[in-house]
Formats: sequence, C-alpha cells, structure tokens
Amino acid sequence: MESGRDPRWVNKMTIRLDFSHMMSDFIGGNKGITQREVNRLIPRALAIAGNIDAKREAGEWGFYQLLYDIEAADKVLQLASSFQGKCDDFVVLGIGGSALGGIGLFHALRHPLHNLVSKVARGGTPRVFFLDNVDPATFSSVLDFINLERTVFNVVTKSGSTTETLSQFLIIRQMITEKLGKESVREHLVVTTGVKGGQLKTLAEEEGYPRLSIPENVAGRFSVLSPVGLFPAAMSGIDILELLAGARYMDERCRTNQLWQNPAYLGGVLYYLADVRKGLNIAVIMPYSDALIQLAYWFRQLWAESLGKARTTSGKLVNVGQTPVVASGVTDQHSQLQLYLEGPFNKLIIFLLVEDSGETIAIPSQPEQREGFPYLGGHSLNELMKIEAQATQLALTKAGRSNMSLILPEVNPFTMGQLLFLWEVQTVFTGGLYDVNPMDQPGVEASKLYIYGMMGRSGFEDKAKEVKEWQNKERRYIV
Ligand code: PA5
Repeated sequence: MESGRDPRWVNKMTIRLDFSHMMSDFIGGNKGITQREVNRLIPRALAIAGNIDAKREAGEWGFYQLLYDIEAADKVLQLASSFQGKCDDFVVLGIGGSALGGIGLFHALRHPLHNLVSKVARGGTPRVFFLDNVDPATFSSVLDFINLERTVFNVVTKSGSTTETLSQFLIIRQMITEKLGKESVREHLVVTTGVKGGQLKTLAEEEGYPRLSIPENVAGRFSVLSPVGLFPAAMSGIDILELLAGARYMDERCRTNQLWQNPAYLGGVLYYLADVRKGLNIAVIMPYSDALIQLAYWFRQLWAESLGKARTTSGKLVNVGQTPVVASGVTDQHSQLQLYLEGPFNKLIIFLLVEDSGETIAIPSQPEQREGFPYLGGHSLNELMKIEAQATQLALTKAGRSNMSLILPEVNPFTMGQLLFLWEVQTVFTGGLYDVNPMDQPGVEASKLYIYGMMGRSGFEDKAKEVKEWQNKERRYIV
C-alpha cells in the first residue's frame, strides 16, 4: 500500500477494471472472450512479464523509474515556484509525446475554464496554453493574446531537433529579443530536453536558459511523469507529488504475476485478444467525463505509436496494431453510437467512468404537468450522465458488442497517476504480445526525413529531390 496513506482512502481511490462485457458469458461466443482463451496466454504473459522486469532492472525502460525520482520532481517544483508572482501566461511548445501528457493532465485536473476565470480563482497560477501545432493562425492568436513581459515559455523536445518545436522556439526567441532584449530571453524560457538534447541543449547551456532534463532511457510518449509533463502540471497548480504517488500505487498493483489480478497485464491481454482473435481492431476510448477527453488523446498516441508496427522484434513483416479512437460520452451517443451498435463488428468500446464528478446540478421539478418534462425533475445532470453510460453499455452488450469500463472513483491527481501508469504498463506489455518494440517509431521518422529535405537541411538533398519528383506526378486523377 502506498506508504503513509490511510489504506481506506487508497482503497476508495482505486481505479477498477470491469471487463464483464468482453466475456463470452455476457456477450456470447461470437465476439466474447472465454476464460480459456485468457488462461492459454498465461505462459506467454509470464515470459513477457519476466522480460519487462529484466528491462526495468537494467534501466532500459526508464519510465518505470520516473515515479520514484523525487529529486527530479523537487527540481520541477523549485523552478515552478521561482516564477510565482512573475508569470501570468505560461505557454508550452512541443509536439507528440512532448505535449499530449501535459495537455491531458491540465484538462483533467484544472478548472474547465481555467484561462477564463480570475487569477484568484486559478489559485494565482498563470493562464496555460499548449501550442502543439505549427498552424500560424493558432500560433499568432496566442501570441497576440498573451502579455509577453509576464509570460514563460516551456520549449519541450527530447531530441532537441524536432522541426516543429525548433521553429516555434526560434520565433519566440526572436520575439523576446526584439521586444524585451536579448538578456531577457532566459527569464522567459525554460527548455526541457533529453540529457543529450541535440543542438538545442547546447544553445540553452550557452545562453543560460533554465533547463530540465528528460532521461535518455525514457521514450517521448512515456515521458509524462518526467519534467515533460510535470513542469507544465506544476506551473498550472497540479499536485505532482500526488500524481507520482498514484502512479506508484498502480505500480504496486501491476507487479503481480497473477494475470487475473494485474489490471495492466489483463487489460493488455483483453485488448490483444479482442484484436487478433475477435477482429476488433478499433479501440474506442469513450470517457463519460469532459475532463478526461484530452487524456484519452494521450492514450491514443501511446497505443498507436507504440503498437502500430510493420515488423516484429526479430524483423518479420506483420503490420500489426489496433486503431485507437476517441469518442465523448454522452455527446457521441448522438453521433457515433449508431455505428458502434449496428455497424461492422470491429470495435472494442472502453468506457471511462467517474463515480463522483464533484459538482451536483439538479434538474428542477416541474410544477406544470406538461407532457415530456415532469419525469426529468428531481434528477441531476450527474445522474443523467451515469444513466446514459449504463444505457449505452446495456445496449452495446445486448447487441453483442464488446465493451469494458475503467471506473475512476474521482478525477484527482492520485487517480490520474494511476491511470497514466496503468496505460503505460498495459502498452509495453501488449507490445510483448504483438512481439513489437513499443519504444520506437520508425514510420514517423520516414516523414521527418522528407521534412528536413524540403526545409533545406544539409545532408537531406536526396530526400528533397525525391519530393520534387513526386510533386511532378501526372495530374490525371485530380478533378
Ligand atoms: O513519442 C514519441 O517519441 C514522439 O511522439 C515524440 O515525443 C515527438 O516526435 C516529439 O519528439 P521530441 O520530444 O524529440 O521533440
């Protein structure tokens, strides 16, 4: 049990996985999974678990160590507090694994209208913006909006060489230099890079920018609990120590080799069987909580980029991966549910359910006995959200549509830490089932090389040539 905590509270805050509606007892034999199918994977699961333990011990998969790195968290907290009272706007520049975790945490754990409420209501924290795209319209609108003199930018890039982030960095650096003077740049910029960190790290050191480090053994999309996610979280007022405590608690739960007791390994087995045995090659993550939508997008990257691979670890061509999709409950009941209920049998629906959403909003009773209204009175929006989730689960289950639920007692830093870590461990474990390397992304690299070529980076002339030739293709099929 996570040390020093009231075990009853920890128990109450434990995330649970309800996979009843994936099992053949509930949804029938066609798409349902049998206990036998799960049990048959136990020897493989044990072997994968052994492999994971070995990589963890050898320090190859550094994301396992982040939860215990209190020193790094303290450094983040110290740096964040050094900006207290000096910063009204905080802007994160990064992409992919260097942005999505921070975005997810911010949306889950801060006021839904954080940037619109007063600074007092925000607990003195700055307004927070994430620029994870290079769309000039968005970029300029944020820059026009903020007060540069009281803004801190956090440039996040592990490699220190990502075109999008470096371009943003150069624009910001020049803007601060022109408007506030060269010496001011270091007061407005925090650079988060890998320990190696490429040219950006060198420049940051030369120019004296405050810098946070991402351990080299932590892959981008597994870096949310490093300064990549922790610094933006701390700047926005999130209790990062609680977040780490929640992750450590999930780590305790995921250390058992009893497959049926291990939420991450069992989750992995179920998603995997759903995909390879039942043809459910789309995983729809459907939070019934607006706070969790952005975290679902973080998981979408984790699942897609880690498991969507052409080759196994021994080089065999397999082209595997389950496509993660995000849907929003209840909104998408009126947009996607028709397809989920009656379309092809190719989806596993994963509900994210929050038991206590905090705020209770009652629907007023109706004194007038007009038809169609009175039944709503005396209920609440909270109840309605829960009822709608249950109705959707039942409808899917009755239609033989595989679905499972992750049940969160509350959305708080402790439960979010559990959720992040659960998904990370589930992902590396499932990588073992598919026999792919969950830490690389060779496909993404291919397009990066073309970008370097087209942007004129030296050494990539052949890529630029290839693009030019491709651009001159016949125009027969364009109307
Ligand atoms: O998960 C990954 O490795 C990627 O999504 C990277 O995070 C993304 O490409 C950004 O890379 P970097 O942090 O080096 O700028």
